[in-house]
Amino acid sequence: KKVVLAYSGGLDTSVILKWLQDEYGAEVVTFTADLGQGEELEPARKKALAAGVKPENIFIEDVREDFVAEYVYPMVRANALYEGLYLLGTSIARPLIAKRQVEIAHKTGADAVAHGATGKGNDQVRFELGFAALDPSLKVIAPWREWTLTSREKLIAYAEEHGLDIPRDKRGEAPFSVDANLWHTSSEGKILEDPSQEASDIVYQRTEDPENAPDTPQYVTISFERGDAAAIDGVACSPAKLLTKLNELGRTHGIGRLDLVENRFVGMKSRGIYETPGGTILMAAHRGIEQITLDRGAMHLKDELMPRYAKLIYEGFWFSPEREMLQAAIDLSQRHVSGDVRLKLYKGSVNVVGRTSPHSLYSLEHVTFEEDDVYDQKDAEGFIRLNGLRLRLLAARRQRLGEN
Ligand code: ARG
Ligand code: SIN
Repeated sequence: KKVVLAYSGGLDTSVILKWLQDEYGAEVVTFTADLGQGEELEPARKKALAAGVKPENIFIEDVREDFVAEYVYPMVRANALYEGLYLLGTSIARPLIAKRQVEIAHKTGADAVAHGATGKGNDQVRFELGFAALDPSLKVIAPWREWTLTSREKLIAYAEEHGLDIPRDKRGEAPFSVDANLWHTSSEGKILEDPSQEASDIVYQRTEDPENAPDTPQYVTISFERGDAAAIDGVACSPAKLLTKLNELGRTHGIGRLDLVENRFVGMKSRGIYETPGGTILMAAHRGIEQITLDRGAMHLKDELMPRYAKLIYEGFWFSPEREMLQAAIDLSQRHVSGDVRLKLYKGSVNVVGRTSPHSLYSLEHVTFEEDDVYDQKDAEGFIRLNGLRLRLLAARRQRLGEN
C-alpha cells in the first residue's frame, strides 16, 4: 500500500504519518503545500525523513500563485459569501490540496490518499469529494474516523511511544484549532465553543485590533482587468503578491475580522473566528468596479446565483458540473469589469470612495439632477402606469369584495 498524505508537519499529521506506517504497513508519500499560511515548510521535510519517508516521496510545494489565480480569484469574481458573511477561506483551499494529492498519487504510483480532517467537520467532505471527482479508484484513509486516539493526551502518548519529536509548544493543549492560508485564518473549537462569549484578543493573529489601528485613514487604488485585480496603486503584480500586499494593509487597519456561527454541511452549527484582511478589501473593491461596469440584469442574476455558488464551495463541490456551469456564467459577466477602484481604509472599515473604468455604464448625462437632453421625464409616466396596471386591478377587486 502506498498513501499520499496531506502533511503539515504538525503534531496531528505527524502522528497520522506514523499510524499509517504501523497500522496499514503503508509506504507514505507526504505532500506539504505552501498556501501562504506563514509557516516554515522545511521542518516538515526533516520530520518526514526522520519518520523514514524516502526523499523521493517528500513533496513540498509553493502553490500560492496557483491558489490565488485558480481558486481565490474565480471565487472573488462571484463575490462569494457563505451565509451572507463567510469568505470561504478554508473551503477554497481544499480542492487544490485534493487535486495535488491525486496528481502526486499518479506520479508516485500510490493507490491511496489520506487527510487529517476530523469526522465532524466540513473538511473531510471537501477532500473526499475532490478525490471522488478526480480519481475514484484511490482508496481514502481518514484516520480521525478510524483510530482510538481521541484525545490530546492519547495523541501525545502515541507520539512519545513512537519516538516522534514533539516541540515543547505543541505539548500543551492548543486553546483552539487554526487553519490558515493566504486568504484567511480561521480559529474554532475549545475556548471558542461558547457563542455567547466574546473571543479573547489572543485569537486574532493577523489583524490589528481596529481600536488600536492608525487614527489617519489610508487610501489604496486597486486596478481590475476582466474581474481580476491586477495592480495596486498603479503597480502591476501577480495574484499572490497582490493579495499579500492587501493583507499587510488589512492587518494594519484591522480589517476583515468576523465572528460567525455557521451551519456545517454535516448538520451541526459551529462558531468560528475568521480573519480575511486582504480578502475583505478585495471583495469590496470588486463590488466597486462591478457597480459601474456591470449591467443591472447581469448583476442581479449574479447576485441570485451567488449563494448557490458559495454553498457549492462550502460543501465541497468545487469539482462539479454545476459549479463549473455557474463559473462559466460568472466569468462571462466579467468581460468589461475593468478599471480602478479607490478605497479608504480606516479602523476596521473599508469603503469604496471612487471608481473609474474605460467600460463604464455610468451616464452622468442620464442621471444628473441638472437639465439634460437625453432623457424625457414624460416617458416615466407611461412606464409607471403600465408597471402599476396589475396593482390597480388588484386594488379594484379588493374594493369590490370589501377586503382590506
Ligand atoms: N468552518 C470553516 C470551514 O468549514 C473552517 C474549518 C477549518 N478550521 C479550523 N480551524 N480547523 O470552512
Ligand atoms: C475538522 O473537523 O477537521 C475541521 C473543521 C471542519 O472541517 O469543519
